Amino acid sequence: MTTQELDPAPPAIGDLAPDFESVLPDGTVARLRDLAGHPVVLAFFPAQWDPARQPQIELYNRALGEVMPDSNIVRVSQKESFLDADVSGEGEVRVYVLDSLDSNGEIADLFGVRGEQALFVLDGHGVVRWHRAGPVGGYPPADEIKKALSEVKKSGGVSRRQFVFAAVATFAAMALMPKIGVAEPRAKAQTKQAAFALRVNGREYKVPADNRMSLLDALRERIGLTGTKKGCDHGQCGACTVHMDGRRVNSCLVLAAQAEGSHIETIEGLAHGDRLHPVQEAFIKHDSFQCGYCTPGQIMSAVSCIKEGHTGSPDEIKEWMSGNICRCGAYQGILEAIQEAKGK
Ligand code: FES
Ligand code: FES
Repeated sequence: MTTQELDPAPPAIGDLAPDFESVLPDGTVARLRDLAGHPVVLAFFPAQWDPARQPQIELYNRALGEVMPDSNIVRVSQKESFLDADVSGEGEVRVYVLDSLDSNGEIADLFGVRGEQALFVLDGHGVVRWHRAGPVGGYPPADEIKKALSEVKKSGGVSRRQFVFAAVATFAAMALMPKIGVAEPRAKAQTKQAAFALRVNGREYKVPADNRMSLLDALRERIGLTGTKKGCDHGQCGACTVHMDGRRVNSCLVLAAQAEGSHIETIEGLAHGDRLHPVQEAFIKHDSFQCGYCTPGQIMSAVSCIKEGHTGSPDEIKEWMSGNICRCGAYQGILEAIQEAKGK
């Protein structure tokens, strides 16, 4: 991928980032220098990242408000190698985000971050203006971000529009940092390979996993029970709801190791043969879903909500179902289904 000599130390702030050639997600091959004129975010992070979730946009706006009070991000989406944002007063802005650089690949060697999770923000000249590597966790200090942005501004030849690009990119990078902290709290530490005994829907499974694997990943990736969905992977959406010893939990927040010895029930275990659970039947009857992505989590939560006795009024149901988000807005149907199923 590169022919440059390897340097074990990451480039410092103010250094020209090493050039490299990479295959972009759209299949084209580009060198970093080909992207000159645009700020670039390099993310050595293996997982796919969706920057468009509402809490993240709110985070970008709070941060952007500090450096550019008159700007507001209306929409963010990621298409292939670009982060596109609609910024009020600026229209569409576009930043290159190379977010699936291999933490253990040659480019990571080139940037001195092998085995680590790392972010680099480059200005339009390819100069490093901010970087973070390793198990940081939490957000970088706001002062550090502002300093990085003022460096981008001072670097010359940066228009207001490009500055907005860099600001959006930097805040997007900020949003990624906690994920890095959570995903790899000890990037270089030894991880213990183990096998966990999980009891799921009445069956025993011996699951090979390292001790950081979530119950959600163990269910989906190891056991093959993909009915439980991964939405945010951060305990915010409820798509991953399962029952653990009869209580609803967000399986993305439970380690597989913690679930040993417990009885796990997933959406696959709810029906009895061909006979659907009354909550499942009610969801169909009341058209309680559109895309269906949140539905398994909604149903598991609804079953618990009824068992817990939190169905006294529509408001009570809404309150006790508030941990389950539906981006299609099927809430009315969900409410009706729970009201119908609660007597069964
Ligand atoms: Fe969103 Fe677990 S995947 S709460
Ligand atoms: Fe689409 Fe709920 S039905 S997210």
